[in-house]
Amino acid sequence: MIEIGGLHKSFGAQRVLMGLNLSVSNGETFSILGKSGSGKSVMLKCIVGLMLPDAGDITVDSMRVDADDRKTLKQIRRMIGFLFQGGALYDSMTIRENLIFNLTRHHKVKHSEASEKAAHYLTLVGLPDFIDKMPSELSGGMRKRAALARALVIEPQILLYDEPTTGLDPITSAEIGELIREMHDRFKVTGIVVTHDILCAGIVSDRAGVLKDGLLKYTGALNELVQIEDKEIKGFFRKPI
Ligand SMILES: Nc1ncnc2c1ncn2[C@@H]1O[C@H](COP(=O)(O)OP(=O)(O)OP(=O)(O)O)[C@@H](O)[C@H]1O
Ligand SMILES: [Mg+2]
Repeated sequence: MIEIGGLHKSFGAQRVLMGLNLSVSNGETFSILGKSGSGKSVMLKCIVGLMLPDAGDITVDSMRVDADDRKTLKQIRRMIGFLFQGGALYDSMTIRENLIFNLTRHHKVKHSEASEKAAHYLTLVGLPDFIDKMPSELSGGMRKRAALARALVIEPQILLYDEPTTGLDPITSAEIGELIREMHDRFKVTGIVVTHDILCAGIVSDRAGVLKDGLLKYTGALNELVQIEDKEIKGFFRKPI
């Protein structure tokens, strides 16, 4: 369970988050829609303690995210898989090394076991033959899949995704969405998916919300959000030409 209460974050005079509240239950996947610059990535970074909020409380499975409590923060981070905006694989490492790195370093998994897990998750995302390739040898969509496998390989209870489908064609986006849905159903993970992609949100989420004016407004099922009379929200649901 992820609970956020009264989250505030400003950069100088720029107020980004202004008392944001969110509660995501165990096993639930929540999508966050919002215009560019509305604070979606900032919110995700606050959850994993990569960014320090000015005020507010964040708890993950009843553990408080607190930069001063390194031990708890480490414990929380071990439970969370984070798919960064842009995928962000390590360019100088093979796909296998990318997947193994976190496991051996932070999860104390033996190299041979980590390698087996890497192969297993690459197969799940449809890339079994790319394990010893460099990221530059993969297409954009494949890199997203590999990044997804890297987030999954630690077998997290919670997965946070920052724009998992940006820049992909609608077919590949839908495939990535289906993959996320399948993983969540299979492993009962709790997820937050930040996306502009309404197709992806429709596939993966149980509920969604719109981040606007520093707050999560209009939370509900996607088919409820469609009904809301708000120009910005309507913009997300506009059908492509
Ligand atoms: N480290 C930082 N220092 C200063 N300002 C920042 C920092 N990180 C984010 N911001 C500002 O906070 C605002 C929200 O940024 P954020 O990255 O959360 O947007 P976003 O909703 O994720 O947008 P996008 O959809 O384009 O990824 C932006 O105006 C950005 O310039
Ligand atoms: Mg962002």
